[in-house]
Amino acid sequence: MLVLGIETSCDETGVALYDGDHGLLAHALYSQATLHADYGGVVPELASRDHIRKIIPLLRETFRQANVSMTAVHGVAYTAGPGLIGALLVGASLGRSLAWTWNVPALGVHHLEGHLLAPMLEANPPTFPFLALLVSGGHTMLVQVMGVGAYHILGQSVDDAAGEAFDKAAKLIGLPYPGGPALAQCAAQGTLGRFKFPRPMTDRPGLDFSFSGLKTFTLNAWRNAADASAQNRADIARAFEEAVVETLFIKCRRALQQTAVRSLVIAGGVGANTRLRERLRELENQEGVRVYYPRPTFCTDNAAMIAYAGHQRLLAGQSEDTAIRATARWPLDSLRPPPSGSPTTYAV
Ligand code: KG4
Ligand code: ZN
Repeated sequence: MLVLGIETSCDETGVALYDGDHGLLAHALYSQATLHADYGGVVPELASRDHIRKIIPLLRETFRQANVSMTAVHGVAYTAGPGLIGALLVGASLGRSLAWTWNVPALGVHHLEGHLLAPMLEANPPTFPFLALLVSGGHTMLVQVMGVGAYHILGQSVDDAAGEAFDKAAKLIGLPYPGGPALAQCAAQGTLGRFKFPRPMTDRPGLDFSFSGLKTFTLNAWRNAADASAQNRADIARAFEEAVVETLFIKCRRALQQTAVRSLVIAGGVGANTRLRERLRELENQEGVRVYYPRPTFCTDNAAMIAYAGHQRLLAGQSEDTAIRATARWPLDSLRPPPSGSPTTYAV
């Protein structure tokens, strides 16, 4: 089954073609990062307008790359939420309309389900059940994944998401948007140990996270530093990054020990962080588990993961009526596995 995937939930426009027999045929991505850089964060209205400008050229580019005709598509999957509503509606309108034109089924995919299933696009994918550390700009969660649509949330952030904390800390020490990659790059020049940051919520039982306090630590360290030198900035960035990474490491180890699940998947934009990948890899020897990462471009937002997740559900017969639906808020634990057997309606 050949599925067209469309992603427009935030500031990345993505289009992909995934085929059940041949895997990912092509994917194209456009990042709006420079558009939003002057504002220090994503401006929703600008994001929606830019998706409208970029989506059709990306669509053409993806079909050209894959060298397939539009009439070969068997189903369309688009991100229906959670995300920025105006941005989501661009992908939903196009996806639903194309499916209607081509007379094929369409499906609104949950953005986080896309992230959770992204490692399935790689050469040696994990098998169910696995534990997933989902760390993005909007979410930080430990999820036990029993199968497509069978997600049990073991813990999550009580305040800022890990990516949000990276972005805010970067801003506080004068780094440009997007903050996460900029802070990671700056931290690579830093020395560990000059600044001491806590590992929030690791001294008590449980698998929840809290990252907002690390912002205050960052601000205080930056204000109290002798001067605003590049070295001080890098050392603070290093201390911040290590605090987030170590906190995530401790909670992942705890979750693995509690569940006895043997595979850990790292998903979401912060999963592109090199230090996090390196540190979590150590769990392979320490805990005798396997750690899986999607390649960095499939950790951050992309349409390949949406095409893959949509393919799994469309193949099982799930599809929607002709209404165009998108939703800014959509709890992950409200998802259910695709129905086995006859096609049914998929309510967003
Ligand atoms: O999954 P994603 O692309 O979008 C959301 O669904 O939120 O995640 C974006 C988040 C941003 O907060 C960004 O700063 C962070 O992932 N991020 C990183 C890195 N690359 C992206 N954080 C730390 N280190 C990175 N290398
Ligand atoms: Zn995302």
